[in-house]
Amino acid sequence: MEKNITVILGDGIGPEVTQQSIKILNAIGEQFGHIFNYDYQLMGAVAIDETGNPLPDATIESCLKSDAVLFGAIGHPKYDNDPTAKVRPEQGLLKLRKSLQLFANLRPISAYPALNHLSPLKPERMEGADFVIFRELTGGIYFGEKTINEEKTYASDLCGYSKEEIERIAHLAFQLAQKRKKKLTLVDKANVLETSRLWRKVVQEIVQQYKDVTVDYMFVDNASMQIIVNPKQFDVVLTENMFGDIISDEASVLSGSLGLLPSSSIGTGTALFEPIHGSYPQAAGKDIANPIGSILSAAMLLEYFDMNEEAALVRNAVAWTLANGFVTQDIDPTNNYATSVIGDLIKDFVEQKSPSEINKKYMDLGKSTII
Ligand code: IPM
Ligand code: MN
Repeated sequence: MEKNITVILGDGIGPEVTQQSIKILNAIGEQFGHIFNYDYQLMGAVAIDETGNPLPDATIESCLKSDAVLFGAIGHPKYDNDPTAKVRPEQGLLKLRKSLQLFANLRPISAYPALNHLSPLKPERMEGADFVIFRELTGGIYFGEKTINEEKTYASDLCGYSKEEIERIAHLAFQLAQKRKKKLTLVDKANVLETSRLWRKVVQEIVQQYKDVTVDYMFVDNASMQIIVNPKQFDVVLTENMFGDIISDEASVLSGSLGLLPSSSIGTGTALFEPIHGSYPQAAGKDIANPIGSILSAAMLLEYFDMNEEAALVRNAVAWTLANGFVTQDIDPTNNYATSVIGDLIKDFVEQKSPSEINKKYMDLGKSTII
């Protein structure tokens, strides 16, 4: 197969982690006879620096034409503490989500047995936890009307949802639940918000079409507590844009490191794949960031292309590095490897280099005692 991928390296550690994914995709291409063509485009602070625009038109055009988008990270500290900044890197990502109509964002959370000791939860609470957060991504308070009065003493952000916006993501979430443990939890604030009551009504109508799926309703405050006290109860969690933003960051640390988690955003056109983590500016350019969130995002991209065997090989390679202690600094502060070395080891595994060749590599790295 031949596929065109728009690559947006973005800000901070975005470039160095995404380069590891490209290495892996190229290795997959060679092993399985696929051709991946990459079109590199700008978005975020780097795009503001070069063009004045966080999302140049050329980037949107490339994404719309491509089969998928692989994205690194967005954000720069120089904008974070300046509420008066007119142009912000994040505007680029929000506009891209809207332009590509990426209305559903999937964030899978699962326990890695080798890393259970790093979870902030007791190992027995986390062991076996495996759920997916389905976050609505192009509506709600993020995209409603924003106002501020002339005196700059009153501001508002409108949260609105239409029945259609809820239905389209709810169907996808139910369909995924049918393929998994057949449980869906709608997270909302229906005791207070009108939009949440509409979400409940629409989901209650749709559930008739998915009789094999058990549905639970949970207020977001309770859900954020339940994610910590009993994460195993969840299978598919469906929620609106801002609640999804918040609970997915909360859930993302449960597996041991935010750096491990991938995500996909799907909609009516091209899909986008990105790690959950941010741009981590303190680590930028140091070759220390964890590339696994990006590499697992590339695995989701392969699945999206129906390259399931290929995706499974990437996941096995990742599991192998974690199980053997080949990890970055965020996971092991004393005995760790560089971003690019983890990328090379995963690539070697994908290329099925013989264990003796890989052993030699460990020796060269001076870490041969680990195996
Ligand atoms: C995310 C990020 C974005 C969001 C920011 C960068 C706009 O936090 O993808 O979760 O809030 O959606
Ligand atoms: Mn977020």
